[in-house]
Amino acid sequence: MKVYHSIAEWRAFRGSVPEFAGRRVGFVPTMGALHAGHRALLERAAAENDHVVLSIFVNPTQFDNPTDLALYPRTLETDLQLAGGLVHSVLAPAPEELYPDKYRYRVTEQEFSRELEGAHRPGHFDGVLTVVLKLLNLVQPHRAYFGEKDWQQLRLVHDMAAALFLPTEIVPCATVRDADGLALSSRNRRLSPGGRAHAAIFPRLLAASTTAEQAAAALATEGFGVDYVADRDGVRLGAVRLENVRLIDNVRL
Ligand code: PAF
Repeated sequence: MKVYHSIAEWRAFRGSVPEFAGRRVGFVPTMGALHAGHRALLERAAAENDHVVLSIFVNPTQFDNPTDLALYPRTLETDLQLAGGLVHSVLAPAPEELYPDKYRYRVTEQEFSRELEGAHRPGHFDGVLTVVLKLLNLVQPHRAYFGEKDWQQLRLVHDMAAALFLPTEIVPCATVRDADGLALSSRNRRLSPGGRAHAAIFPRLLAASTTAEQAAAALATEGFGVDYVADRDGVRLGAVRLENVRLIDNVRL
């Protein structure tokens, strides 16, 4: 497993015919702080492709809150251990490598990206779509794997790939949950032990409430700050705050 910090070196490697000729490339983009949910994406990519590329890049343009960006865990060494045995190459560039244009060029979706997460995090999806397009152009994968926990992100990336005629298949992967039902997220580690235990009510109330409004009211009663709960296309999506940690999740109705 080789780690590339330089885009120039990565491009030279990706262009090398002996390494990639006739081989299927699977790609898992991440911001690091890897957990068992990421490992499940990597396992699927390894099962379905010949060469697996992992990217680890804490993307500054998708953070609307500078404190959130500063607090985002950066754990490259442990990430590489978790990825061991599944990944062939790792792309881990510095921000100035990936944004030589200083974000002058960006991808903007005008409709769905403004709702739900987008309504609460202005510019978030511009940052996500821009970095995903850059990474897909660099990695040129046959398939790219995205978790369903970030349902809106998955939909927007899928639709961007279709709109821009990208040759990559966007593969949705089921959310991985802890035994108590809480979706795995690198943010969970910022909760106190008591907060972590309480957070498991979040997906349960999303699933058990009859309407989105009832779920929002029940979550507020349980002490969560509710950004939104909404039903879309047979899925109930929610975003809440607990102990200054923002959690998102969704359940099928
Ligand atoms: O889901 C994430 O971890 C990020 O939004 C992604 C897709 C890696 C883009 O920075």
